[in-house]
Amino acid sequence: MCGIVGAVAQRDVAEILLEGLRRLEYRGYDSAGLAVVDNSDELHRVRRIGKVAELTDAVSQSPVHGGTGIAHTRWATHGEPSERNAHPHVSGDRFVVVHNGIIENHETLRALLQNEGFEFTSGTDTEVIVHLVNHEQQKGGTLLEAVQRTVTQLEGAYGMVVMDRTDSDRLIVARSGSPLVIGLGLGENFIASDQLALFPVTRRFMYLEEGDVAEVTRTDVTILDSNGHPVEREARDSEIEHDAGDKGQYRHYMLKEIHEQPEALTNTLEGRLGEHQVNLSVLGKEGQELLNRTRAVQIVACGTSYNSAMVARYWFEELAGIPCRVEIASEFRYRKFFVPEDCLFITLSQSGETADTLAALKLAKELGYMATLAICNVPGSSMVRESDMALMTHAGAEIGVASTKAFTTQLANLLLLVTAVGRHTGMTAEQEASVVSALKALPQILKSTLSMSDDIEKMAEAFADKHHSLFLGRGSQYPIAMEGALKLKEISYIHAEAYAAGELKHGPLALIDNDMPVIVVAPNNDLLEKLKSNMEEVRARGGQLFVFADRNASLKNGEGVQVLPVEASPEIIAPIVYTVPLQLLSYYVAVIKGTDVDQPRNLAKSVTVE
Ligand code: AGP
Ligand code: GLU
Repeated sequence: MCGIVGAVAQRDVAEILLEGLRRLEYRGYDSAGLAVVDNSDELHRVRRIGKVAELTDAVSQSPVHGGTGIAHTRWATHGEPSERNAHPHVSGDRFVVVHNGIIENHETLRALLQNEGFEFTSGTDTEVIVHLVNHEQQKGGTLLEAVQRTVTQLEGAYGMVVMDRTDSDRLIVARSGSPLVIGLGLGENFIASDQLALFPVTRRFMYLEEGDVAEVTRTDVTILDSNGHPVEREARDSEIEHDAGDKGQYRHYMLKEIHEQPEALTNTLEGRLGEHQVNLSVLGKEGQELLNRTRAVQIVACGTSYNSAMVARYWFEELAGIPCRVEIASEFRYRKFFVPEDCLFITLSQSGETADTLAALKLAKELGYMATLAICNVPGSSMVRESDMALMTHAGAEIGVASTKAFTTQLANLLLLVTAVGRHTGMTAEQEASVVSALKALPQILKSTLSMSDDIEKMAEAFADKHHSLFLGRGSQYPIAMEGALKLKEISYIHAEAYAAGELKHGPLALIDNDMPVIVVAPNNDLLEKLKSNMEEVRARGGQLFVFADRNASLKNGEGVQVLPVEASPEIIAPIVYTVPLQLLSYYVAVIKGTDVDQPRNLAKSVTVE
């Protein structure tokens, strides 16, 4: 995974490239680099290990000038994070490339190219691309043709930009399996992995399709499809209204995004709730008819999105009374699957670019599911474009690597979907009306829940010196416990595991001691009494309990038990409500531990490689 930026302009582009990289840093941040060609056809390449700030410092010490350039922020897949492995990579002091993805046949290509006399200076898979372009160009023709011939030899995934020092009027781009957009300016054009990178310079974009190769000059964009035929791709103004590249008053994007949840939910639900009914007319007539026909659901996703799918499983089976299977995308794509009749295939994704989920979607189309639906936060993303229909979450850009508002808005959309399907499979009008009224109350309940912040910050101190933790929940709160554990481990690096509380006595109870905090999600439902017994089991073994409990549930602080009351909420939306205190807990624990909250080690926001 990585972020790519490119520019062909008359003005100096180094600043535009650096700002683009800063905005893409969520995609990867173990090294960064840029290369610019100046008016005398000289190539200036600067690369640094570490974050974009290091590169910015280097460029400010020795500025680079030139109107055509490419840049990259890396999340290493092949070759350790180091300056020599940082992109851009160069061949013959002439061809330059930045790449996002993995070239799977890099070893074979490397051997072939070494035989031809090319010398490799990095341990990356990417370097084969640039030597191959060089090799192909030596056979004659244009750079575009050389890149076309190059990509036919590549196996794997790529979004790439190629630059020729001796002909800096153009950049050649190609995509297959990794995202790329072209940003259109006046007398200047740009390229990036995500439109957000280019908001300071343009709001107008062209989205490349799988297999496209394009030539971008200051004034023109020429696109060839995977068969080499010229194609037009529509230019569209970005639908993203806010430029989320700014943290505002908040110390971290994650905290900002946690606090944006009431608004994100209001935006996601807007126009989708009638007086007593859910309204999914946004899916069009055909889409709604597909929902009417749905009698089974298969959901596929990764990470946090997978956790929200797990909540939806409870809802689909309980409210709509239809079977719902949930699978991690990287598993789904490599095993045989039984496809039930009238089964809707749903992908959940914040980014819409997760490679495993996209591959599962592709496979699902071959397997013969009734239709595919994406619940996604990024308009124009690959998943949205490649699905039969899309139900967007309107959470706004999510920058923090740890997903927060994308999760809660996904859950809201899933509840809408369950209801729209369920009304044809036995859900009553009263049940639908109660879902609608619960969803209407949700943004306000979340606002009250956010006011727990100070208490949670204090509670977080108890975790600072801990190495392990357990999260417990039951029913639809079990996936919320899973999400709480995922948040804590990814940003505070404390080992966290989630268990369905009833499972405790089947093994994990053996771990309980004074050093193992146990976080419990305890809404006021029929499982509360059972949950209390599970907590007693922990207490009896000297475990420390931290309980998020409905303020109407009769749970009290005591020896080894700290209870934080949570705003009362209708049971159906309780999973969404209880997510928020868990997000705040992991955030404050990470802040106390001094970790890099928005860009945790070893991770990246969009996992666009397998
Ligand atoms: C969430 O906090 C994670 N960083 C990660 O698990 C993420 O949810 C996962 O990679 C899926 O991403 P997507 O929703 O963009 O597909
Ligand atoms: N595979 C390439 C590398 O390791 C690109 C990784 C990326 O997408 O950042 O350098």
